[in-house]
Amino acid sequence: MEPLKAIPGTHDILPPDAERWDKLRSQIEQLMAQYGYGRIETPHFESVELFARGVGATSDIVQKEMYTFSDQGGRPLALRPEGTAGVVRAYLEAGLDRQRPFWKLWYWGPMFRAERPQKGRYRQFWQFGVEALGAAGPQIDAEQMVLALRIAAGWGLGAITMKINSVGDRDCRPAYRRMLHAFLTGVSDRLCPDCQRRLETNPLRILDCKEEACRAATADAPLLIDHLCPPCAGHFSSVREFLDLAEAPYEVDGRIVRGLDYYERTAFEITSANLGAQSSILGGGRYDGLSQALGGPAMPAVGWAAGVERFVLAAGEVKADTPLLDAFVATFPETVRAGYQLAESLRARGFCIDIDYLGRSMKAQLKEAGRSRSRCAIVVGPDEWGRDAVVLRDLARGTQEEVPVAQLADRLRHE
Ligand code: HAM
Repeated sequence: MEPLKAIPGTHDILPPDAERWDKLRSQIEQLMAQYGYGRIETPHFESVELFARGVGATSDIVQKEMYTFSDQGGRPLALRPEGTAGVVRAYLEAGLDRQRPFWKLWYWGPMFRAERPQKGRYRQFWQFGVEALGAAGPQIDAEQMVLALRIAAGWGLGAITMKINSVGDRDCRPAYRRMLHAFLTGVSDRLCPDCQRRLETNPLRILDCKEEACRAATADAPLLIDHLCPPCAGHFSSVREFLDLAEAPYEVDGRIVRGLDYYERTAFEITSANLGAQSSILGGGRYDGLSQALGGPAMPAVGWAAGVERFVLAAGEVKADTPLLDAFVATFPETVRAGYQLAESLRARGFCIDIDYLGRSMKAQLKEAGRSRSRCAIVVGPDEWGRDAVVLRDLARGTQEEVPVAQLADRLRHE
């Protein structure tokens, strides 16, 4: 029988990669605390309607990429393709706005999109993200971007670019959309089949199509950034002012549109030069209309999300060499029980300890101690054990000496 395999587009997170994931997560936890974000977890599946109303019925994500299914009660459900709609739903459902007028929340978890898998693009992938709910002013937009840059820098992603844009609001977008539609109708025969379809449903998306033909056809297209209403233009220039105050590097790019329909005003993306085609490591923007689209009150909000796999890929290979264990307990057949007791008593005192379970030779156990990235090996020899002692071996230096069991914890602490 053929061994079963993971579903295409999904992947396992194995050691030592899992360690890097944990490291990234703990760095993020620290920065989120520094910026005052509280954690939120929402379900991995929600109603299809949430995403149709939230992300947008005409978006590629809802039209082509959602994993949908019906449960036993016949309810139409979807594995979440992104986190923002669920966070806003949870916020409205719990009435968080009645407790405090402004919230900063962050999350980390798997998302699901039926995209064509390739390096850096998966069908189950992890995102971490932030959402700030309740503030309309430009300061929080800029602060979130600065936080994103800080996380990327802390993770050692040198060559990154942040591009920012304004996609206008309900006042200025309709007139611009008509202008863009008129322009695109004139070049529609040069657009890719996807963009020909988008012409009627979502013409703005055509501007950030990666197809060469579409890029050429839209080179002279009008950009919304040149046709913003005065309040949107004012918001955008204030966001830039706050970015400058923090000395954050960015470029203005009128073609950043983003693949989710909820954005208004601020939209931004961070790309990494270390990745190939899937270079976007983080994206976000303002979504002042989302609460109302979900049946809630008007509520300004802004957020971003980043791909964990892409963060890990963009950082490149990092050698896993930090010690994981304080000691590996190596035993002889006569000292298996003594070693077992010793390991448990050291763990009870807070040490990280592993031991042999396979009845291996001493040589093989010491080799395993090295593989397990232990600082030391504790050899429980029958003679030494008879004297209430063990041999403590420093694996990096290759030195060893006999140590009374009573002094072992102290020695391990200072080794
Ligand atoms: P998004 O741009 O669709 O935004 O996704 C954010 C990030 O998730 C991307 O920059 C990328 O790193 C990662 N990502 C997306 N799709 C995949 C995939 N198939 N495989 C691997 N990584 C992927 C959002 O999801 C919005 N909810 C962000 C947001 C939060 N806007 C406001 N608040």
